[in-house]
Amino acid sequence: MILLRSLAAVVAVASKVGAAITKSPEPCAITYWFPFGDSYTTTGFDPNDTLPSVGNPLGNPAFPGETGGGGENFVGFDTTTYNRSLILTYDYAVGGAVDEFLAGAGKKPATAPWTSENALFSVWIGINDIGNTFYLGGDRAASKDSEAGGRNFLFINVPPTYRAPLIIDFFPDQLDVAKTVIEGFNSKLAARVKLFKAKNRGAKTWIWDAYTSFNTILDAPQRYGFVDDSSFGEPGDFWGNSYHPASAAHQIFANQISELLAGTPWF
Ligand SMILES: *[C@@H]1O[C@H](CO)[C@@H](O)[C@H](O)[C@H]1NC(C)=O
Ligand SMILES: *[C@@H]1O[C@H](CO)[C@@H](O)[C@H](O)[C@H]1NC(C)=O
Repeated sequence: MILLRSLAAVVAVASKVGAAITKSPEPCAITYWFPFGDSYTTTGFDPNDTLPSVGNPLGNPAFPGETGGGGENFVGFDTTTYNRSLILTYDYAVGGAVDEFLAGAGKKPATAPWTSENALFSVWIGINDIGNTFYLGGDRAASKDSEAGGRNFLFINVPPTYRAPLIIDFFPDQLDVAKTVIEGFNSKLAARVKLFKAKNRGAKTWIWDAYTSFNTILDAPQRYGFVDDSSFGEPGDFWGNSYHPASAAHQIFANQISELLAGTPWF
């Protein structure tokens, strides 16, 4: 047994040495990601505190940050697990963040010398704004980022939050209305992304369809390793709390996003 283990260790070391010899010692490219959004996206980043750097790619607070559902969210997983370059992520998912971005990293300071080519902007909004006329917000924010030099934009639509335990428990008679409003928001978002792309030639856009993704998982939770579609707060639950997906769900989202953007400088 001990011998076997030692052998395995030697093989592991040998293959590492082999890999080191055969692989060209190219340093990992540094890229940037500026996520905008709400509690589904936040890591509690304060742009005035420790900034992202090699070895600490999300800056502050300590990894995985302060997330909506607890633990690592899709931003953490995409930055550190599914990344194919060294992504420095400035998570501006806080209120008024577009202006903070423009005043901070948006100026391409020496600490964040991003370029149009190596910076990804993502926008996941609408979750808390459904019912307002805020549906213009997504491409307005993107327009400002575009003026700052952004060229790569990932848009994320609104998931079926009416399936969250909180909404089911407290607003059981409003689920149908919520569904209609969210579907309306999402089709407007798709149309506006098209328009944004038409207006910003050279911009690349992607839409990750969170609505379909959540529904697919919640319709067959066991297939994805979850106990059911409504429990929360325990290992094996889709929901981390009554309104936010758990880290295990975020890992699935992060994987899907990385597949959607496969072949780009980030994934
Ligand atoms: C960061 O500092 C600027 C001014 O130095 C201030 O306007 C802004 O509100 C601060 N942001 C945060 C998140 O504390
Ligand atoms: C992915 O990110 C981690 C954390 O920053 C980093 O250590 C790793 O080198 C990155 N992977 C690639 C392929 O750049």
